[in-house]
This record gives sequence, structure tokens and C-alpha cells, in this order.
Amino acid sequence: MSTYRIAPSLSSADFARLGQEVADVIEAGADWIHFDVMDNHYVPNLSFGPMVCRALRPHSTVPIDVHLMVQPVDALAQAFAEAGADFISFHPDASTHVDRTLQLIQGAGCKAGLVFNPAASLGVLEWVIDRVDLILIMSVNPGFGGQSFIASALRKIERARRLIDSSGRDIRLQVDGGIKVDNIRRAAAAGADTFVAGSAIFGQPDYKAVIDAMRRELVQ
Ligand code: DX5
Ligand code: ZN
Repeated sequence: MSTYRIAPSLSSADFARLGQEVADVIEAGADWIHFDVMDNHYVPNLSFGPMVCRALRPHSTVPIDVHLMVQPVDALAQAFAEAGADFISFHPDASTHVDRTLQLIQGAGCKAGLVFNPAASLGVLEWVIDRVDLILIMSVNPGFGGQSFIASALRKIERARRLIDSSGRDIRLQVDGGIKVDNIRRAAAAGADTFVAGSAIFGQPDYKAVIDAMRRELVQ
């Protein structure tokens, strides 16, 4: 089985039928469910919170990957851990005490991730890579689905891959934003192993056809 993971983002799903959307996309081959949390403060949009995560948890047989685009972080990270999240990632610039927030997430029994915006430096990883289970490189500015892939993310993925490899730790390297069938291979070649895709999957009638096409790109 491939080490690649495809994580459809619910931000592009039909919010009137979220439970069914989760079931459908898992049936279509999703490895994880990516759950974008937007607070109309850290990002200029508002999505859903821990109550929706708790409601969806029984509908998901795969890990729920929570991407917090919120500030402050800690109380919501705790609430998502209690709501059944498996991975919880946050933007280091949104937390006053990054090391403490990572400990909080892991102490609550979840895997912890750090998210880097297109203009953000990876510098903080020098000090906390031992506490990180996932690194998420944003290839769009956070807040909206359906934006175009920012090419400089590829260089950042390469750099993150080198940091992960030299750490010797088991850390997933995720890319999020504008991922489509026609660019997923470039992200993988740069070193990504986990791929978020919102509009590319939920914007199409046949989720399985898209996920299968993405996997074909990844094995070639
Ligand atoms: C952006 C979110 C993404 C996004 C993905 O703020 O973190 O997960 O909605 O959507 P696409 O794949 O459409 O860029
Ligand atoms: Zn996301």
C-alpha cells in the first residue's frame, strides 16, 4: 500500500449533507477527512467548529485531520481533541506559545501539526521538530477553497522534506491549496506525502474518478 494519503477537504463539500459527503468520499477512497476550521478572525471566513466534528466522527472510518485557522488556538484545539479529531494542526503565528500548544494537542491524545502560510518561514521547526507529527505547507493563502496553487510552495516542500529526513522522525508532509490531478505529481516530487484537495474532488460529480486519477499520478 502506498504511503501517500489523499485528504479531501470538507470546505468544498455540500454543507447541507455533510455526513453523507463524508461517507461518499470515504467510499470513493479518501484516506483522511480534512476539516478546515475558519474563525472570521485569523482568516476572513467562517466554517464549522467542534460540535460539527463531534457529529461527523461516527460517520468517519478514517482519521479526521483538523486544520485550525483560528486565533487564539488552545481552547479550540482542546475542544477538537474532545470532539474526536485524530490530527490537529495550527498556524504557529496564531499561537502565543507554540511549544505549549503542541504539548496540549499531544497530551490530549492527538497528533500535532504546524501549518505554514505562503509567506511564512519554516524557522520555528528548528526548535520544535521533535514535537511535530505533521507539517502542512499552504499552497494558497488560507480562508477559501478554489484558489490557484502558489508555485513557491514547491521549494518550501523541498526544504521541509530535508528537515524531516534529517530529523529521522516519522512526520507527514502535507500540502494544502489548489491541488488538482494535474499538479499533485509535482507536489509529490518535491517531497509531499499527504495531499489536501477540496474543490478538485467535491467540485466533481464522481469523487472516485478524481481520487483514482490522483493516485495514478502518484504511482507514475
Ligand atoms: C484553505 C483550506 C484548504 C482549501 C482546499 O483555507 O485550508 O483546505 O479549502 O481547497 P482547494 O483544494 O479547493 O484549494
Ligand atoms: Zn486546510
